[in-house]
Amino acid sequence: MGSNVLQIIAYPHPTLRRKSKPVKRVDSELRAIVAEMFELMYAARGVGLAANQVDLPIRLFVINTDSDPEKGVERVFINPVISQPKGFAEAEEGCLSLPGLYGNVIRPKQVRINAYDLDGNEINEELTGLLARAAQHELDHLDGVLFFDRMNETGKVDVRPTLEEFEIVFESQRKTGGVPSEADIAEHWAEWEKRYA
Ligand code: NI
Repeated sequence: MGSNVLQIIAYPHPTLRRKSKPVKRVDSELRAIVAEMFELMYAARGVGLAANQVDLPIRLFVINTDSDPEKGVERVFINPVISQPKGFAEAEEGCLSLPGLYGNVIRPKQVRINAYDLDGNEINEELTGLLARAAQHELDHLDGVLFFDRMNETGKVDVRPTLEEFEIVFESQRKTGGVPSEADIAEHWAEWEKRYA
């Protein structure tokens, strides 16, 4: 196991709707996975990526708000908890699992995050700006929530045709064996949850 090449899965892959399990251990393979997640994120020009977006149903995500390995700070959040929301801000979001789809989402402007890094150090920080937005978007992923779920009714109507296109592509890939069956996906979840959760 773990020999599969990581890739970003697209909506409506079922792992994106899975409530991910807390991480119980960090090993060299998980460190390698995290490094690969940053690579995939940069290649796709994203600022954040959750583990279940690479088909791993465990509670961790990575962020670099500069989306550039030469700039910014690479942040890893394991078993994150968000609290103390303050204020509201509206901004356009996108998602690497929904390429080409964008829409406005209202979220708290500032939040506190508690988590662990890869070395087991505790993170306890107040986040603002893009970092606050990205962390909330990624934490949603771990709970199986996608950004369009948080759009207003008009926004949801606007994105419906694009979501249907994603659904048609997924179904046709499933018919041709391009995506795993439900049973294979469930087996894959069980393997990874046994190893890390
Ligand atoms: Ni996303």
